[in-house]
This record gives sequence, C-alpha cells and structure tokens, in this order.
Amino acid sequence: MDSLVPYLLPLIYISPCYATNSAPLFLANILDERMPLDFGKKFRDGKRILGDGKTVEGTIFGFIVGYLYFTVIYYMQMLLDIPFIYVNMLEGFLLVTGSLIGDIIGSFIKRRLNIERGDTLPIFDQTGFLIFAILLRSIFLGPISYDLVIYLFTITFLVHVLTNASAFKMGIKDKPL
Ligand code: CTP
Ligand code: MG
Repeated sequence: MDSLVPYLLPLIYISPCYATNSAPLFLANILDERMPLDFGKKFRDGKRILGDGKTVEGTIFGFIVGYLYFTVIYYMQMLLDIPFIYVNMLEGFLLVTGSLIGDIIGSFIKRRLNIERGDTLPIFDQTGFLIFAILLRSIFLGPISYDLVIYLFTITFLVHVLTNASAFKMGIKDKPL
C-alpha cells in the first residue's frame, strides 16, 4: 500500500481541477436556461467568441464545487496524519481558477479553428484545463517537477477519455469524446 502513495498523492493533489472541470456538465443537466459567458457575441471572424458550451452559471458552479472540494481536502490533510500536499488556500484558488481559464481558452481556440461546440480538439480538450491550472500555480507559487507534470498529463488524459465515454454511455454527454 505504501508503495502506491507517491502515485496517489499527485492525483489527490490535482483532483480539485477534475471537480471544477466536471461540475458544469452536471449543472447543465439540471438548469436548461443558462447565460453564455460570451453573452452570445461574435468574434471578428464572425463566429461565436466562446459558444454556448461556456456559461456564467456553469463557470460559477465549477468554481464553487472545485474550491469547496479543495477546502475539504485542505482541512483533511491538517486533521489527518498525512503528508501535506498543499502549501496554502491560495493554491486551491489558483488550481481551480486555472482550470476554468484553460477550459474557456480551449473553447476560444476551438471556435477560431471552426470546431463546433461540443466537437473535439484532441489533447487540448482533455488536458487544457490542467495546462492552465499548473501554469497559474507555477506563476504564483513556483514550478512543480517535470516528472510530476508528465505523470499528471498522462493520467488526466486517460481519466478524461474514460469519464467522457462513461458520461456518454449514461446519457449525460452527447458525444463520447
Ligand atoms: N459548461 C458550462 N460552463 C462552463 C463549462 C461547461 O455551462 N464554463 C457546461 C456546458 O453545458 C457544456 C458542458 O458543461 O456543454 C460540457 O462542457 P465542455 O465539454 O467543456 O463544453 P462543450 O459543450 O464541449 O463546448 P466547447 O466545444 O466549447 O468545449
Ligand atoms: Mg466538450
């Protein structure tokens, strides 16, 4: 069991990003009417700035769920006798905000590349949120090791593909990727 710890801790560390990224999808199944984050506006190429897949409600919900989730882990690490994985509460804010920014930038890029809302931009769709989460964290709190970054990207890519395929099977998502 002890030998698994080095592999599990990075996943726990990054899990608030997963919570942030998946929460809006569940809200989408409850709330039909949501305000697009770009307010329906178009970019100068005539296409939507972000599209209907990024909403104000979804973004706020993603932030709240992600940050609450982070807070639970943060206090658990203080209560339990486990290695500290977070430096401070700011770290959660950076990871959660970075995830949301990455996801939004992903939609911006997709619209510029003529990729319809909900269609896939391989690699970035699965890991864009992580790129920006780690970037924002590194800018304010210092870089994390390359080994860790590579491990997190590989696992995140695989987890994302698997969870999306399951969400598709369960009828929560329209497309399997
Ligand atoms: N969602 C939201 N607000 C966000 C992110 C996601 O409301 N900030 C909701 C939307 O209903 C979205 C769903 O969660 O359709 C799935 O998110 P995602 O896969 O990121 O969006 P896509 O619909 O694939 O749109 P895009 O092509 O722009 O990524
Ligand atoms: Mg999508």
